[in-house]
Amino acid sequence: MSPKAFKMFDIIQETHHRFDQLQLTSERRSDLAKGLVALAEQEAKKLNSLEAIEAYRVEWLGSKGIHRRIRDNWLRLAPVEDKKWIGPLLVDLEFRIKQNIERAKSFNEVLDIGPPLDVSLPGIERALGTRHVIRQTFEELQRIFLSIGFSVVEGPEIETPYYNFEALNIPEHHPARDNMDTFYIEGTRSPHLLRTHTSPMQIRTMEKQQPPVRIIVPGKVYRRDNPDSTHGYMFHQIEGLAVDTDITFCDFKGTVEYFVRAFFGPKVKTRLRPSFFPFTEPSAEVDASCHVCGGSGCRICKHSGWIELFGAGMVNPAVYGFVNYDPERLSGFAFGMGVDRFAMMKYGISELPVLFQNDVRFLRQFP
Ligand code: DAH
Repeated sequence: MSPKAFKMFDIIQETHHRFDQLQLTSERRSDLAKGLVALAEQEAKKLNSLEAIEAYRVEWLGSKGIHRRIRDNWLRLAPVEDKKWIGPLLVDLEFRIKQNIERAKSFNEVLDIGPPLDVSLPGIERALGTRHVIRQTFEELQRIFLSIGFSVVEGPEIETPYYNFEALNIPEHHPARDNMDTFYIEGTRSPHLLRTHTSPMQIRTMEKQQPPVRIIVPGKVYRRDNPDSTHGYMFHQIEGLAVDTDITFCDFKGTVEYFVRAFFGPKVKTRLRPSFFPFTEPSAEVDASCHVCGGSGCRICKHSGWIELFGAGMVNPAVYGFVNYDPERLSGFAFGMGVDRFAMMKYGISELPVLFQNDVRFLRQFP
């Protein structure tokens, strides 16, 4: 037994003795008082179960406990001047012990709620979403164009016919409007429609900005198409526009070829086919050699070896007239591609609707 523990033992022994037999020096008195309080506090720290708490209560406050023995053996028999310190000691002791019991009980109740807390267990994993495959494709396309000096601008999905058609050199009764016959919005003072392509942002950008212009425009577009496995009333496009004082058809072709290789792979070849868009002259369809069969012909490319990618061309000088650009001094090229189609080609998705049904079994395949 350590000297300290011995002292405690001593104190408890002494509570068995009648006070008049103790013959206490004043030093011994204060030792006893302090030692009892310290012992009660020290034992309380070890109360880690409801059984231990009950044992503690019995030991200190029970009918044969220390508190009762001091009261019966000491207080009752002590001379008046000793009652003056024994009385307060008992009050203090009882107060502290009850407090210790309460504290230990509430602490143990908290611990009793469940199994002991193991802080080394892994936490609860929350399911994190992923970026939609369309968003991923947008980002991939943007990364390529940002790397060659284009910047991204966005525009309104609700447009005026002026920006959607007229300023793009598509006058009111031009047949090019036919395949864009579309969603007009009722109840607005001037006519508005859901944009049918991202091309209006060519005009809005050139109205605001002097050349050089090098922008791409990602966004949603709307058409009155009958939904089937490759059509919907809404789809996604990226428009591109580059205008400066010395842009040639070679710049156009070089940019298109660079882009196609960066997106579909270094082996893919590019081909330009004559086409028509009112806002480009000359216009072209950009085709790529089939990324599935490599050009030898398969089901995907309908045995032609080529896949149609997007429309493009040199900006029609007529368009510059709408934005006060000088057609004698400036030239440029433009393109507009369907992002959904690109995503379908790149990831081998055969049905457009699955892109918008938000079935997690589909979405999870594109982490
Ligand atoms: N706006 C056209 C469409 O949605 C696509 C397009 C073709 C955009 C040629 C262009 C372009 O900028 O030069 O069908």
